Amino acid sequence: METYIELAYLFSAVLFILGLKKLGSAKTARTGNNYSIVAMALAIVISLVSAGIIGPTQIIVGLLAGSLIGFVMAKRVEMTSMPQLVALFNGFGGIASTLVAYAELIKMQNAGTSPALDISITIMLSILIGTVTFTGSLIAFAKLQGILKGAPIVLPAHQALNLLLMLGIVAGSVLYIFNPPLVVWPLVVLLISAVFGITFVIPIGGADMPVVIALLNSYSGLAASATGFVLGNNVLIIAGALVGASGIILTNLMCVAMNRSVLNVLFGAVGTSDGDGSSDAPGGEQRNVTRYTGEDAAMIMDTINSVIIVPGYGLAVAQAQHILHEMTTILESRGVQVKYAIHPVAGRMPGHMNVLLAEANVPYDKLYEMDEINDEFQNTDLALIVGANDVVNPAARTKKDSPLYGMPILNVDYARTVMFVKRSLGAGFAGEANPLFFDEKTMMVFGDAKKVITDLVKGLKEG
Ligand code: TAP
Repeated sequence: METYIELAYLFSAVLFILGLKKLGSAKTARTGNNYSIVAMALAIVISLVSAGIIGPTQIIVGLLAGSLIGFVMAKRVEMTSMPQLVALFNGFGGIASTLVAYAELIKMQNAGTSPALDISITIMLSILIGTVTFTGSLIAFAKLQGILKGAPIVLPAHQALNLLLMLGIVAGSVLYIFNPPLVVWPLVVLLISAVFGITFVIPIGGADMPVVIALLNSYSGLAASATGFVLGNNVLIIAGALVGASGIILTNLMCVAMNRSVLNVLFGAVGTSDGDGSSDAPGGEQRNVTRYTGEDAAMIMDTINSVIIVPGYGLAVAQAQHILHEMTTILESRGVQVKYAIHPVAGRMPGHMNVLLAEANVPYDKLYEMDEINDEFQNTDLALIVGANDVVNPAARTKKDSPLYGMPILNVDYARTVMFVKRSLGAGFAGEANPLFFDEKTMMVFGDAKKVITDLVKGLKEG
């Protein structure tokens, strides 16, 4: 029986790995998701059945109830609120690891047994990482949801306080590891870790929360992996390690795309509020912009042969992806070459724009990554920027004191004409004014992206 259980776990682990691999491309992502769903369901059922924890009826009821809650949450949540939801899920994962490890401790205490040294260490790691992930994720959720202010909250002697808390965690852990049956030191570590999770995340700006969420996601995986060692459960060790590693890779990718180091994100206290603060012309001067309406923009569209569309966070806010797709269908039927340029940190979460455009059935082969398309702007009639700002802001190339400085951007300013669709001259996430708004080849079409593109489509149909 033991062999069959291990084989089933192995099968589940292989499915997790294949699922993760398939998530690497938009075309196979759905299949990857399905593989992972089957792997997770299998792992849960095998664990519960093999350990004889509860009977089949409870398992089925639990699975159905959990699936229903997950389904309703996933259906209801706005695409722009997805990072908050992920933060909550990470937090739940973290606290689950803590509770399981603590329950094992109590079990051992009651049985009067002492864990081996390696198990004591992994119990403490589960409690520490799981609890930091839990409270840290709640703070990340509160910042993104607007319950807490997005700006960095820095306490007096903040780093010294963090250091003190870390020392407390190490001391409590060492005391437990060398006196294993005591449940009191783990409780002390749990409480200090809970405070540390809060003080670790509150000084990080709301703007950097997606990076923090990816990092906490990685922590939740590490906590699960440590718990896997405590329970001697291989699938938990493997799945936790996969989450831990992929979370770290994602964190790193996001930092590279923003040209920031992880340390700068964690300890730089960068960011103002939620990043949509408005900004005037660079240097505060009064400068003119060229304003167009949606109908005017339609007339411009009648004259072009090629357009590269740059989607950004505002497209997601306006939910303009469907009407945008309708617009491109009309343009293509008139012989215009249409491509989408996707910046790696466009929007507010990894792959945000890919998911958004997939929702509107935009074919994957029209989506180009930054490196693939950046050389094409110079031969393109129109760069149409819909609700994006930072990812096309040329200040990133030249303005040394800008938070964007050094971030690779999409070279929209090399296109023959540039058109922005946004509501105002407001800045993007990084709070940096965009000098391109004032360029003579730039047209600003002010308004909610959905409304503007709807007018544009109307103009195209009438024209
Ligand atoms: P942003 O630079 O944030 O610009 C979005 C723009 O959309 C805003 O300037 C806003 O201007 C406009 N907008 C908002 N609502 C709109 C609506 N209803 N209709 C039309 N426009 C609307 O977005 P981006 O260019 O996508 O850049 C993403 C930023 O997020 C980068 O700074 C990136 O570093 C940061 N970030 C991203 C990630 C990931 S993984 N994607 C993670 C962490 C941080 P108005 O107010 O004038 O309309």
